[in-house]
Amino acid sequence: MSTYGYFDDNAREYVITRPDTPLPWLNYLGQDEFFGLCTQTAGGYSFWKDAKLRRITRYRYNNNPMDNDGRFLYVKQGRSVWNPGWKPTRARLDAFECRHGLGYSRITGRKDGIEVEQLMFVPPQENLEIWKVSVRNKSRRVQKLSLFSFVEFCSFEALNDMTNYQRTYSIGEVEIEDGAIYHKTEYRERRNHYALFACTRKVDGYDTSRDAFVGVHHGLHDPQAVLAGKCTNSRAYGWNPCGAHQINLTLKPGQEETFAFILAYVDQGDLPKFDAPFVMNKAKGREILKKYSDLAAVDAAFATVKARWAGLLSTYQASSVPNAHLSRMVNTWNQVQCMATFNLSRSASGYETGIGRGMGYRDSNQDILGFVHLLPDRARQRILDIASTQLSDGTCYHQYQPLTKKGNADIGGDFNDDPLWLVLSTCAYIRETGDTTILDAPCGYADKPGSTDSLLHHIETSIAYTLNNRGPHGLPLIGHADWNDCLNLNCFSKEPNESFQTSGDVEGSKAESVMIAGLFLYAARDLVGLYKSMGRDADAARVQGYYDDMLKTVEEQAWDGAWYTRAFDAAGNPVGSKVCEEGKVFIESQAWCVLGGAGRDNGRAKKALQAVEKYLYRRDLGCALQYPPYSTYHLELGEVSSYPPGYKENAGVFSHNNTWIHIGWTMQGDGERALEYYLSICPSAKKDHDVYRSEPYVYAQMTASQFSPTPGEAKNSWLTGTGAWSFVVASQSILGVQPDFAGLRIDPCVPKKWKGFTVTRKFRGVTYTIEVKNLRGRSKGVKSLLVDGVRIEGNLIPLPTDGRTAVRVEATLGA
Ligand code: GLC
Ligand code: GLC
Repeated sequence: MSTYGYFDDNAREYVITRPDTPLPWLNYLGQDEFFGLCTQTAGGYSFWKDAKLRRITRYRYNNNPMDNDGRFLYVKQGRSVWNPGWKPTRARLDAFECRHGLGYSRITGRKDGIEVEQLMFVPPQENLEIWKVSVRNKSRRVQKLSLFSFVEFCSFEALNDMTNYQRTYSIGEVEIEDGAIYHKTEYRERRNHYALFACTRKVDGYDTSRDAFVGVHHGLHDPQAVLAGKCTNSRAYGWNPCGAHQINLTLKPGQEETFAFILAYVDQGDLPKFDAPFVMNKAKGREILKKYSDLAAVDAAFATVKARWAGLLSTYQASSVPNAHLSRMVNTWNQVQCMATFNLSRSASGYETGIGRGMGYRDSNQDILGFVHLLPDRARQRILDIASTQLSDGTCYHQYQPLTKKGNADIGGDFNDDPLWLVLSTCAYIRETGDTTILDAPCGYADKPGSTDSLLHHIETSIAYTLNNRGPHGLPLIGHADWNDCLNLNCFSKEPNESFQTSGDVEGSKAESVMIAGLFLYAARDLVGLYKSMGRDADAARVQGYYDDMLKTVEEQAWDGAWYTRAFDAAGNPVGSKVCEEGKVFIESQAWCVLGGAGRDNGRAKKALQAVEKYLYRRDLGCALQYPPYSTYHLELGEVSSYPPGYKENAGVFSHNNTWIHIGWTMQGDGERALEYYLSICPSAKKDHDVYRSEPYVYAQMTASQFSPTPGEAKNSWLTGTGAWSFVVASQSILGVQPDFAGLRIDPCVPKKWKGFTVTRKFRGVTYTIEVKNLRGRSKGVKSLLVDGVRIEGNLIPLPTDGRTAVRVEATLGA
């Protein structure tokens, strides 16, 4: 147990025991279309589908105090005013607990004999969140108190809402019906939706004007109406609409009152918009309130949230895993993070404001790798959505807006790694499901309206794009950047007010990326496997030819003597080479060359990993991105040299690319290093939370490295490709249960002292119980495979042909 909390593994919850965590510790509510961000102090906001275009409540990022907007409850008890979640008043509590669970957060605070519990969740398939609130008198005397709720509405378009006050101060509109607050800003003209905030219990007052409830010269820590113990029943007209309710309670000793608040997003659909001039049709809202005024319905909705997660996680569960950190991550938290990254890409977190970045092309493709086993149908749709934003020459919009599914050029295109990730996501989908019909699905190109080219067409276009866009060494051209957004070899920016990613001319440039070459090898090998599994041998042979050719180029052009060069800049000079003064060794080229199969037969793969160990790795931190960091700005390298040393892409520990090194060690059969490296970045294994600061249950994008003054301090948690890739590392590379085109392949790579473990895996309609035994102290190599008692050659479990839906497997490592 740390200073701030502990894992309750049986309940699948992280329990936070004091509210003043080193940074806000976040959870996500919802997984369909309605989402909420919720911190341990009930901070956060909600939106429908798109955090930019359908923001329901407001949130001020980078506020001070940090994380000071949310789903607040105030208790006014005599003269004292407090929040069960501690903020915004920060009044001292007698007890505090926040349980972040799977799709819900439960905050309980107690003061002066009154306990308030606030359970927040989003019922599956519904566009609303519920706060189930219980108020308990834990004292021996009768207690009188008032409870207030509070949210601040956003006028739906979040960027406009926080920048354009000359307009937004004059558009706010609400209606109130029996204390239910209907936020209907812009509804009279073009919007056909509204937000609803209501209590299932009769209220003793309400406010909808922020100025009335909070006061212009007050703050959320001392709202005027709460101090006065009385709401003013205000009706917002312009300015800042909010939702607040007052509930007066008199509780006998031991008495408890339970009710619920509902915050809903309602789309009117085809219903008539108005009942009368200025009176909106509230039928849908009333229906929602009626349904949940029955607390049994609230409890049933919560039960479905829990059941749904239990069902999702049952696809993959490992038991008796000898390492507790790996066990809880792979079984629970890593999968939860994969759900969040799949749903939100990099758009809305504690660090991503929901207005800046939509769904990333490369990011969303990678997110599929850790998500596809959970909900393959949604992965399928996502792959097709992503492919539809590709252009017919193979290039891609770097991101797209989830609401419109249209690519946007906000941060440009011509990131030349983008097209290839589609091959990985598609192959992962087919490995999981066996559904090759996705390849024929029509998903035209963004620049050819009405086109219906197949997904396979996109895949071949992607492969061809890399092949046809190569530089003087025969390596792929980098464009604006590759996976490393900050390696801007064509940018040459001298202007502080231009973007590293969009400025500079990529046309006719010579700058090349070894990382893309490695990624190409990986993608081509994937595609060869796919074609072979479909009996398309000629295509397999053709793509194998591309592979062989690129491999030869990599080995001839990119080996620097002791590791793989990272890139060649626009002038043809090597980047990430011993001849460089700074940035001699980079992680990504080692990782991707090894993953793509380079260096396998000539010992270079091992040397590349050893270079990572020597120059980049620290057991307590993970691997820095390069060595040495750039101490000055390099015009020819771009943003990578803009960060202070030890942060982000300038030699920070970027968790995402660490995971590829973990896979690399398993390819070498080094189970000790694979686990040790895995634990080096594993949030659950971080001991000092005052140093690490971020959530202990999910990965952060970046940890400050040994080259910074604050080694070990994590940042940008939740939305990172580390989510998906770590799940791949733990479930497929270490524990070794690998979906393959023709069945499940069993190929663990574990520390020699591990005696074994069991994985339950649902795969294409069959539940496999796979017991891995390691009695001879090996790391890798399945020597015997028993499938329902029958010995099988090799390590691939064939798909049952006799309709069996449960299969027992025993895999023994070693000779
Ligand atoms: C961020 C981006 C990702 C990129 C990485 C490295 O995580 O979301 O697309 O690959 O940074 O620059
Ligand atoms: C990635 C990087 C970040 C960079 C950004 C540019 O997210 O992590 O450092 O600023 O890309 O879009």
